Amino acid sequence: MAAIADHNHDRKVMVVDINKARIDAWNSDRLPIYEPGLDEVVKRRRGKNLFFSTDIDKAIRDCDIIFVGVNTPTKTFGRGAGCASDLQYWEATARNIVKVANRDKIVVEKSTLPVRTAEAMEHILSRHPKHHFEVLSNPEFLAEGSAISDLENPDRVLIGGHQTPRGKAAIKALADVYAAWVPKERILTANLWSSELSKLAANAMLAQRISSINSLSALCEATEADIDQVAKAVGMDSRIGPKFLKAGPGFGGSCFKKDILNLVYICETYGLQQVADYWRQVVLMNDYQQERLVGTVIRTMFNTLANKKLALFGFAFKANTSDTRESPAIAITKMLAEERAQIVITDPKALGHVAEDLGELASRVKTTEDPYEAAKDADAIVLLTEWDQFRGLDYGRLYRGMRKPAFLFDGRNVLDHAALRKVGFEVKAVGK
Ligand code: UDX
Repeated sequence: MAAIADHNHDRKVMVVDINKARIDAWNSDRLPIYEPGLDEVVKRRRGKNLFFSTDIDKAIRDCDIIFVGVNTPTKTFGRGAGCASDLQYWEATARNIVKVANRDKIVVEKSTLPVRTAEAMEHILSRHPKHHFEVLSNPEFLAEGSAISDLENPDRVLIGGHQTPRGKAAIKALADVYAAWVPKERILTANLWSSELSKLAANAMLAQRISSINSLSALCEATEADIDQVAKAVGMDSRIGPKFLKAGPGFGGSCFKKDILNLVYICETYGLQQVADYWRQVVLMNDYQQERLVGTVIRTMFNTLANKKLALFGFAFKANTSDTRESPAIAITKMLAEERAQIVITDPKALGHVAEDLGELASRVKTTEDPYEAAKDADAIVLLTEWDQFRGLDYGRLYRGMRKPAFLFDGRNVLDHAALRKVGFEVKAVGK
């Protein structure tokens, strides 16, 4: 919304949420999330044509286009638990729009939703005796850590809607918002269901590439192949391309796992068991990669971690974000703690989430923003997030502070392994 406000000075953008603390943070000098470049955009437009408020009803009345981006977590109860999306917040929002709206509105699905959700929403929205609500799907493809540049220069903007006169007019109204800065040929229109499915499909196929390269990293470790060399050779095939082929501790983030499980559930609902099994395997391979990494740590450290000190470098699910949702570091920390290792976590932005993410375990885990302090007297370093900060460290200083033999597990293959070995580290890396 900040990017839309930044490129459409003549439009008023209101961001509303039921969470007052969060809205207060958006109105303060400390935004509630860390995202490179976001502070500048918000500061530029806040109070001019970008407003943050908890007055949801006023925003529904004032605005012509309503973007709904409420959370759609994986259901934890009832039918489809563990797979299907929990749509209760979406439905409550749709009901509130019907209750409050004073004229026709365009309602845009911004949350990632199962295919044909728009149908259910239309059903609720069509209850209004006087006003018409045209539902569009406009999935967001930005990635965290590069959100602002992804928004500034998107590969495509996708708008799905009904191919009726009203549907087409709504599509045009939304396309005009993006046309302020996105070249016309990158604004793609589709029918509603294609648009909804495209978001799930894009995330599933991105995650599938990661599981594919991670599966091969296991084979590399068993042979003399090197996963980075394999990824480079494979990625230079222009049909495959070089992106999303980096082996690591498995994908995290709020989207990939949730969206794939959602896809699995939808396939099962339509009786497409083989298709469901195919996609579920992408998630199973991701879990396996994390178990495998922990297995390597245990085996290398003489089959016991009890009372050994491990320094975990990185807790965020990827670099340049404070987000830890579904971070591989969470599952890996839990598995290492079960082996009774003493764990110290260091991360430049994400330590604030450790307590909540680890629950009871958090009291047994230490945290510090200083990587040298984390590594002090440790038996091993396990690198899980590819922060630039970790690349620039003084390896000799780290090594000198540690117990010997000192191990380093590079879960992201981002460090200079030859230089690490030179100062004395015993190095293990993914797919090497
Ligand atoms: C993803 C999609 O990229 C984005 O289009 C969608 O809108 C939301 O979900 P995000 O989860 O923010 O974005 O991050 P992304 O960069 O896709 O990374 C996801 C996970 O995959 C991270 O844990 C990352 O470390 C991992 N990853 C990514 C790899 O392990 N290897 C790679 O080559 C790329």
